[in-house]
Amino acid sequence: MIINFGSINADLVYQVPHMPRPGETLLALDHAKHLGGKGLNQSVAALRSGGPLRHVGCIAKDDSWIDAAISAAGLDQTYIDRIDTPTGHAIIYVDPDAENEIVIFSGANQCLTMDMVAKALHGLNGPDHWVLFQNETNLTGEIARYAKDHGFKIAYSAAPFSPALATELLPLTDLLVVNETEAAELAAANHCAVADIAVPMLLVTLGAKGAYLRDATGTLHQNAYPVQAVDTTGAGDTFLGAFLAQYDAHGNAAQALRFAAAASALQVTGHGAASAIPHKQDVTDFLKEQSK
Ligand code: RIB
Repeated sequence: MIINFGSINADLVYQVPHMPRPGETLLALDHAKHLGGKGLNQSVAALRSGGPLRHVGCIAKDDSWIDAAISAAGLDQTYIDRIDTPTGHAIIYVDPDAENEIVIFSGANQCLTMDMVAKALHGLNGPDHWVLFQNETNLTGEIARYAKDHGFKIAYSAAPFSPALATELLPLTDLLVVNETEAAELAAANHCAVADIAVPMLLVTLGAKGAYLRDATGTLHQNAYPVQAVDTTGAGDTFLGAFLAQYDAHGNAAQALRFAAAASALQVTGHGAASAIPHKQDVTDFLKEQSK
């Protein structure tokens, strides 16, 4: 199982003709409210890829919109606490090239407690499970240390990126997930080559160029599937959630990478982050089509 300590956001998405320049007032072409948050997106991707999944997070007590959106996404809410702090949200601009710019208000995502951590991991046999987290919640270091002490495998999606925090958590991390720029920054901060970043498994996402995974046996490359993207928000989250769920299920990294590439290819063809994440059957059908 994957236990994901993750952010939950309302994504306020604005389609813009181009990214706003400093001092510019811009008319949006369209606007929508979607379910998002790096953590939540990764959970939905893992769940839809067939993975048993427990999401741990915080939202506002009286937020019926987010409640309904999480339920509609099919996520169990047992470990999602309702508190007296506003739900996190993200302001997202999407341009005609499907690129985005994101500003986050953390809100309730910064209110995780060690009680929640202990409750979510209680009774589980550590080595059988993955603990996943990102940098959009509080307590990342504490969660990592607690999980490590209890024998869990640790997957760390180091975004939004902080070289200092990522460096601090390297010794606790089993699977580190970063994009190409973050990988280069982390290598520079550690005075080493990207290939020598000291974690057992390093997954680097490369956007339209795919991804690669380096582990003890070598490096696997996975190309991206060419599609007509309309919104790339959450594509990396989809890749990670799908990869981890599949890898956890069967341990075949090459197969899990292929599945993740297909899942994120399908995801960018839809609008919104979590709502555009495909189900396992759709990914399987897409992969069959590709191999014809
Ligand atoms: O990775 C995409 C996500 O980043 C969005 O859904 C937004 O909520 C931010 O957390």
